[in-house]
Amino acid sequence: MDKNLRKAVIAGNWKMNKTPAETTALINELKPLVENADCDIIVCVPYINLNAAIDAAKGSLIKVGAQNCHWEKSGAFTGEVSALMLSDIGIEYVIIGHSERRTYFGDTDLTVNKRTKAAIEKGLTVILCVGEYLEQREQGITFEVVRSQLKIALMGISEADLDKVIIAYEPVWAIGTGKTATAAEANEVNCAIRSLIAEMYSKENADKIVIQYGGSMNAKNADELLSEYDVDGGLIGGASLIAADFAAIIKAASK
Ligand code: PGA
Repeated sequence: MDKNLRKAVIAGNWKMNKTPAETTALINELKPLVENADCDIIVCVPYINLNAAIDAAKGSLIKVGAQNCHWEKSGAFTGEVSALMLSDIGIEYVIIGHSERRTYFGDTDLTVNKRTKAAIEKGLTVILCVGEYLEQREQGITFEVVRSQLKIALMGISEADLDKVIIAYEPVWAIGTGKTATAAEANEVNCAIRSLIAEMYSKENADKIVIQYGGSMNAKNADELLSEYDVDGGLIGGASLIAADFAAIIKAASK
């Protein structure tokens, strides 16, 4: 497997943070800091901020993503937003299956699969999140958990569709806790994910697919994590809300 086959992808997951005006301000602050980046940059903002983010990001390398989408085109699904609606306003990326969606909003492996399929069908690239809880790591079943999450999430996803999938390995115990997986721990799981893709699809697919790490990645630890062979980028929460920190991670990924 050759890291030269893959370009790093750094995605910010803003979660439920920032108003539209604050979105414009943060992106404007970020733009000059990432002018010379040599990686893909995405900011995933709350739905209500998507238009402001698209406008602010115009003419820069920054791309805009959403944090979830529903699998139906339209209908009686109060509070939901469809993949069609996102693609219609020019959104190219969407996070699916984040552990906060799974933990607090009832997302399951099966709904993650439905959302993933709908998003790809509408031309979106999915940042598909998987990861184990602390108890699962302690029981030594991390690989089993992640394998099963991925096998279900990717049901019905063809080899061609896989070009529209970025995988984010996010150990739940490392999200928002300040507790990062060590670079070796992150690489070990990312490597296992790549082997699973080779098993489910082909070695070529496995070589190509971008596998991020997420969970308390910050300006200080990004360099070490991103220098691991199978860590092709990051999904960043807290540190993506501070322009200088997010830019430092982007700089580390551009090496
Ligand atoms: P964190 O969040 O960087 O704040 O840990 C990562 C995520 O939830 O995607």
